[in-house]
Amino acid sequence: MKLFIDTGHLPDIEALVPLGIIDGITTNPTLLAKEKGDPREILKKICELVKGPVSAEVVSTEAQAMIKEGRELARIDPYIVVKVPFTRDGVKACKALSSEGTKVNVTLIFSPTQALLAAKVGASYCSPFVGRLDDIATSGMQLIQEIVEIYANYPIKTEILVASTRGPMHIVEAARMGADICTCPPAVIDSLFNHPLTDIGLKKFLADWEKAQAAATR
Ligand code: E4P
Repeated sequence: MKLFIDTGHLPDIEALVPLGIIDGITTNPTLLAKEKGDPREILKKICELVKGPVSAEVVSTEAQAMIKEGRELARIDPYIVVKVPFTRDGVKACKALSSEGTKVNVTLIFSPTQALLAAKVGASYCSPFVGRLDDIATSGMQLIQEIVEIYANYPIKTEILVASTRGPMHIVEAARMGADICTCPPAVIDSLFNHPLTDIGLKKFLADWEKAQAAATR
């Protein structure tokens, strides 16, 4: 399963990419609004750092304007994936942009029918939001299971990009279900590393080694 970082914050990307575990980045207007500077320049720098798919979301809401904005975003860098919200206009824009070879991520997916329609219009990625469903007492991971099952019935190329993840269990469950990608806030990526037994075990290995070295030089 691929791991994306859900951020527009360059220092976080610079810290995590060298670990070799990051396959791409997702941004959204909320994330980019938190950053200082020209969002297009930030997106360009992100593409240069990650050298993988970088989702950049349109803020237009009417299909023709979305297509125009999507084309402009795609010109920033070949790694840009144009993100459109799942609306009727977004679906139209996805069809047009994907037909001309631009990769599209259809975002704000909250139901299996929306995921099915995103695949029909050639989305490269569909982004179901698990955390926001959990927030309203509806199982986000149940939605992922349903989309995995539906996509497996057909020769669908759209990748399931699990979004709005809030903790390591979302990542574990997504991987067990066979989702293609999880996009995670930096703190969630950090949480994937932690296990107290690793820390205790390493401390003991190093202490034992030092003891043996000291004995050998006595
Ligand atoms: C996905 O691409 C979105 O940017 C994101 O995962 C939204 O997450 P949130 O619900 O934590 O805002």
